[in-house]
Amino acid sequence: MQIIAHRGASGDYPENTLLAIEQAIAQGADAVEIDVFSVDGELIVIHDHHLARTTNGSGSLYQHNLAQLQQLDAGLGQRIPTLWQVLQLLAPTTLWLNIELKGDNTVAPLLPLLERAKRELQFDLSRLLISSFNHHLLAALKLQLPALKLGALTASMPVDYAAFAQQLQAYSVNCDVSFINQAFVDDAKARGLKVYVYTVDQADDIARMAQYGVDGIFSNYPARSQQRLNSQ
Ligand code: G3P
Ligand code: CA
Repeated sequence: MQIIAHRGASGDYPENTLLAIEQAIAQGADAVEIDVFSVDGELIVIHDHHLARTTNGSGSLYQHNLAQLQQLDAGLGQRIPTLWQVLQLLAPTTLWLNIELKGDNTVAPLLPLLERAKRELQFDLSRLLISSFNHHLLAALKLQLPALKLGALTASMPVDYAAFAQQLQAYSVNCDVSFINQAFVDDAKARGLKVYVYTVDQADDIARMAQYGVDGIFSNYPARSQQRLNSQ
């Protein structure tokens, strides 16, 4: 079962920052998950469109331009990173990267950025998993870059998940820990889908996910979750 550092090692470091991602690498995570919005055509790494929870800014990020956003403190003096900076940081490592698309206008800037990462960083795009709760975005992306791995995010037990996963030709279903059960995991795996589960930090949840045989868990504490997994 893989450990995916959720927003980086966000339990101990400011979420979705380069520092949190560096710490995830240092802690031996298998992968990193980040959230992206598009501002001025640049993809930036942040979870909320409201700035107040994770930065010293206020209001919506859409009320700011890129330069203004990059002045903000995202915690411990960190800046809001661009997706390009994250790709640069991860390129020399073996970790894979889950990019969660949060904003509506994220597909258009993502495509040239991935081409650039392939060209300039020799970034193997098979190391990427692109996910979203907005499956329309994923469908649009798949049309443009069919080889990309897609993760269909779902926050509740989906009645039609097999249909939407098949339609998207998804690689994985990315599910909330609150609803997942053995029957769901068995069914998804029988359909050839990977199952990744968020957010799993508690020892009993880690043990339950390992028992179900899920492919990976999103954890805010990658090192601690790995230790808990190993000590079972
Ligand atoms: O991608 C898994 C998880 O991050 C989805 O929920 O709200 O934490 O972005 P959220
Ligand atoms: Ca996320």
